[in-house]
Amino acid sequence: MIIAHTINEVKEHVIEWKKKGLSIGLVPTMGYLHEGHASLIKKARTDNDIVIVSDFVNPIQFGAGEDLEDYPRDFEADCKLCTSLGIDLIFNPNPSEMYLKGFHSYVGVDTLSAGLCGKSRPIHFNGVCTVVSKLFNITEANRAYFGKKDAQQLCIVKRMVRDLNFNIEIIGCPIIREEDGLAKSSRNTYLNATERAAATILHKALTKGEDMIRNGEKKSHTIINEIKSILEKEPLARIDYVELVDSDELQPVDTINGGILCAIAVYIGKARLID
Ligand code: PAF
Repeated sequence: MIIAHTINEVKEHVIEWKKKGLSIGLVPTMGYLHEGHASLIKKARTDNDIVIVSDFVNPIQFGAGEDLEDYPRDFEADCKLCTSLGIDLIFNPNPSEMYLKGFHSYVGVDTLSAGLCGKSRPIHFNGVCTVVSKLFNITEANRAYFGKKDAQQLCIVKRMVRDLNFNIEIIGCPIIREEDGLAKSSRNTYLNATERAAATILHKALTKGEDMIRNGEKKSHTIINEIKSILEKEPLARIDYVELVDSDELQPVDTINGGILCAIAVYIGKARLID
């Protein structure tokens, strides 16, 4: 496996791979890889001749007071996992490599970025779109893989690719959960044992909402209230949002008819968990 820290190194390899007509799959990550990432990597490995994993904690998607400094990092463990999964190249740049002095160019998708996580993290999705655009350009990937846990991110990246005519296919992959239902996330590492047990409430609450929808409930506020009431029974849980939005424009819906996304963000201790 090639370990690349500079954009030029990646580009040199990409030129050679493209000359040979090989397809490239990209798995963008912020490192501290877990089984969720492994599932994206395995899918990329199956679909492509070459797989690149980017391992970069992207500073511009963190707002002031967020967890940029604390975000867990373990590049050695990431390299081991990527080697075991047969990755061709891991790209681990420094922030100064990605954002040169005088960097002033940002990519953003409005409307879709305004609600859900965008309300409490106003600069987040512009930071994501910008870094993802750079990674698409650097790797010239044919396909890129994103987890469905970050449903708003996936939707926004797909829209950006469509609107700006990026020559890449975006593939959404299923949420990977712990046995008790908690969605795998690098941020789960912030939870102590008591908080970890409390965090199972997210999946329980969402499962109840899903059951209600399957049983024919159409009124959003009834479902949202039920999900909130389950979350509120857990003393360690602090709700950021519980929302039902249409899966296209991510706008709140009053009545369910058609594709919807039920999304929640909940603080357990200092961890902000989404599902
Ligand atoms: O989902 C993530 O880990 C990040 O938002 C991403 C897509 C790697 C961009 O930094």
